[in-house]
Amino acid sequence: MKYIMLHTGAKMPALGLGTWQAAKGEVARAVTEALRIGYRHVDCAHVYGNENEVGEALAATPVPRRELWITSKLWNNSQCPKDVRPALERSLEALGLDYLDLYLIHWPVQLSHTVMYPQSGSDLIAWTEEHALETWSALEDCVRAGLVRHIGTSNFSMKKIQVLLDKGSILPAVSQVEMHPYLQQNKMRAYCQANGMGITGFAPLGSKHRPAHQHKEGEPGLLNHPDILAMAERLGTTPASILLGWAVSRGTSVIPKSTNPERLRQNLAAADLELAEADMAIISAMDMSYRFLDGSHWMLKGSPYTLENIWDGE
Ligand SMILES: NC(=O)c1ccc[n+]([C@@H]2O[C@H](COP(=O)([O-])OP(=O)(O)OC[C@H]3O[C@@H](n4cnc5c(N)ncnc54)[C@H](OP(=O)(O)O)[C@@H]3O)[C@@H](O)[C@H]2O)c1
Repeated sequence: MKYIMLHTGAKMPALGLGTWQAAKGEVARAVTEALRIGYRHVDCAHVYGNENEVGEALAATPVPRRELWITSKLWNNSQCPKDVRPALERSLEALGLDYLDLYLIHWPVQLSHTVMYPQSGSDLIAWTEEHALETWSALEDCVRAGLVRHIGTSNFSMKKIQVLLDKGSILPAVSQVEMHPYLQQNKMRAYCQANGMGITGFAPLGSKHRPAHQHKEGEPGLLNHPDILAMAERLGTTPASILLGWAVSRGTSVIPKSTNPERLRQNLAAADLELAEADMAIISAMDMSYRFLDGSHWMLKGSPYTLENIWDGE
C-alpha cells in the first residue's frame, strides 16, 4: 500500500474504501471483506447512516486499530460549537472507536440543528468566516481531548481553507474534494502540497450510484470514456483501475466505494498500478473542471447558497 504523508508525520493509506450509499445490510460485509483483503482506510460519515454497520465490521476485524485509518465527517447541522463534540462522540459510538484518525467538516454549508436534509431555503444558514472559525476551534478542542488525531475539510475552496490556515491553531491535515480526470483539482493539489496537507479524491469513478436528484441531464461518463477504455484494453486492466491508478500515481489519496467483492479486490490492486508518463498525459488532457456533485442541492428557493459562494469561483 502507498501512503500519503501528513504534516504531523502520520501516514494515511492512499487508497481507502468509500461507504456512501453502501446499503444497510451490505456495508458490514463489504468492510469486513475489504479489511480481510488489505484495505486499511475507511471513509465514513454520520450522514451516510451506516456508521453502526461499519462499526460491526471494525469490532470483528483482527486488524489492530493502530493499522487502520478511519475518517468520519461532521454533518452540516452540527457545526455550532456546542454540537461538535457530541456529533463526533455519536460517530465514535456508532463506529465502536475511542478515536478517529480524521474528522472533516463535511460541507461549507450550515443547516439548522434539527434538520438532516433541507426541505426549504429557510433550513439553511449562511456561511460566514466567523462561524467557520468557531466550528474549527471546537474541532481543535476534540483533537486536544484525544477524540480525533487530525481534522480537515471537505468540499472547501482554497479560499475557505486559507481562513483556517491563517486564524486556526491546528492546521487542516486533509482536503477531501471531488477529484477524477474531469475535475483534476491541479490548483487544490498544489495548494495542499505547499501547505503540508494531504488531498483525498471522492467520486473517483464518477459516483454513478448517487441519488437521482443529483444527476444532471447529459452528464459525461467516466468509466466509458473512449481514451480510458482504450488504455484499459491496451494495459489489460479495467477502466476503474486506470482511474484509481492515475489518482494514486499523482500522489493523491482516493476512496472508491464498492460493496462487490470482485470490485473491492480490483480497486485495491489498482493502487499499485504505475501509469506511464504518456498515459498520464492522455488523462491530463481530459480535465474540464466538471463536478458530478456540484452542491446545487443546497440551492433551494430562498437558500443563501449559490454555486459561486460555495466554490468561490475555483
Ligand atoms: N466528502 C464528500 O462530500 C463526499 C461526496 C461523495 C463521496 N464521498 C466519499 O467518497 C466515496 C466514493 O465516492 P462515491 O461513492 O460517490 O462514488 P465512486 O466511488 O466514484 O463510485 C461508486 C460506484 O462505482 C461502482 N464501482 C466501484 N468499483 C467499481 C469498479 N471497479 N468498476 C465499475 N464500477 C465500480 C460502485 O458500485 P458497486 O458498489 O456495486 O461496486 C458504485 O456504484 C464515497 O463512498 C464516500 O465515502 C465523499
